[in-house]
Amino acid sequence: PIFHATILTLYPEMFPGPLGHSLAGRALREERWACDAVQLRDFATDRHRSVDDTPAGGGAGMVLRADVMAAAVDAVADEGRPVLAMTPRGRPLNQERVRNLAAGPGVTILCGRFEGFDERLFEARDIEQVSIGDYVLSGGEMGALVLLDACVRLLPGVMGAASSGDEESFESGLLEYPQYTRPAMWEGRTIPEVLRSGDHAKIAAWRHARACDDTRSRRPDLWERHEGARVGRPLARG
Ligand code: ADE
Repeated sequence: PIFHATILTLYPEMFPGPLGHSLAGRALREERWACDAVQLRDFATDRHRSVDDTPAGGGAGMVLRADVMAAAVDAVADEGRPVLAMTPRGRPLNQERVRNLAAGPGVTILCGRFEGFDERLFEARDIEQVSIGDYVLSGGEMGALVLLDACVRLLPGVMGAASSGDEESFESGLLEYPQYTRPAMWEGRTIPEVLRSGDHAKIAAWRHARACDDTRSRRPDLWERHEGARVGRPLARG
């Protein structure tokens, strides 16, 4: 396979899960990617196979042990494949990072549970902390599935033209324009006339205008970045 995913998790049975179906599932069977889920508990050293302990300083929940996590990462680490840890404290995932990851040999993904990882893990190992958004999941597994789905659809032969073109949402830094299909009239609503005009320049201009309008109103953060890039203003942060 050209893209190798290793997932370190307390719930290996969650993989490939939904990625065994549809587009990613077909690509998996065609060996365009591989998915190995590894049980974190296998790297525990005590007879209770503990992976976590109570937080230093007190507080609710449990913290994943640095020694056990590092042993797991070291055992599966392989040159050239970045190690990611799914955590809401990480850098927000975006299409640019997905594109970079999909162009490489694969990823090792460490999935958190409980109150997170012992911070010393990130001081002692080269691990990139990744968040899939500003909300809290019960564990990193769903985040890992999201990240892998986004990568796999970009692999050669998986989607074809639809994922490679610069029409793709976010490739331009804008939301994608809205789509319509038959029937031409539905519940009294028509398809915008321009889309039935056959004038491809006019259609492209309409779509670009809608992409701009929708991005400006729905995602002022993306619009700000897009406009800044257009006029050559350096990014403030992130
Ligand atoms: N684990 C818990 N919440 C998460 C999030 N938002 N992103 C990635 N991993 C997580």
